[in-house]
Amino acid sequence: MVNFLIFGPPGSGKGTQSVRLAEKYNLTHLSTGDMLRAEISAGTELGKKMSSIMSKGELVPDEVVIEMIASKIDSTKGCAGFLFDGFPRTVAQTIALEKMLNDRGMKIDSMLVLDVDHDELVKRLITRAELSGRPDDKDPNVIENRIDVYKEKTEPIIDYCRKRGTYQPVNGMGSIEDIFERLSRNMKRYLK
Ligand code: AP5
Ligand code: MG
Repeated sequence: MVNFLIFGPPGSGKGTQSVRLAEKYNLTHLSTGDMLRAEISAGTELGKKMSSIMSKGELVPDEVVIEMIASKIDSTKGCAGFLFDGFPRTVAQTIALEKMLNDRGMKIDSMLVLDVDHDELVKRLITRAELSGRPDDKDPNVIENRIDVYKEKTEPIIDYCRKRGTYQPVNGMGSIEDIFERLSRNMKRYLK
């Protein structure tokens, strides 16, 4: 199994690229944002509790997402590895993921970090708000808060992974196809 983190601020293209990469390389795409939105759509108790946190652009508690990921890892069979999107988002989540993988004879092989300019992030999210309407894209203040939360709580993971030797920066500006090529080139080194 080969395990990748796709990393970057809100709007950097993690979800867009993950869907394509997972299909190309037979990886299981695990997005905690998608899992949380599915809980909200299904009207579960957990979804009800998490929706107000998400609508403000704050992070949900670490234990909620760690539990979600652990159960997905254990129920998934027959893939070449996992592609984690939007998880981990804190150093505590990173340590928990490492332990989860180590306990199962796996590790984080590579952390692909999409670098995208601030103005481009905001532009992409505002466009998405007009087209599809994710509630946390509708208010520019919430978009800015998500970017601030990323800088404060999530970016420190980069230093953590740099020390582990897994950090791989990738230019996230340009067309979806060009970025996909850059990510593919990087990932191929780890896949047979
Ligand atoms: P999450 O769902 O992870 O959202 P996010 O990090 O805010 O990121 P996005 O999904 O908005 O962006 P993306 O990088 O996936 O970009 P995308 O490909 O969609 O999290 C949502 C919330 O859930 C969090 O705020 C938090 O509350 C909670 N949460 C989730 N995980 C958590 C965790 N682990 N711990 C705690 N809380 C957690 O692209 C964006 C748009 O740009 C799309 O419309 C796309 O079509 C477009 N686009 C993509 N690439 C390009 C390109 N190259 N050129 C032009 N447009 C492009
Ligand atoms: Mg996403």
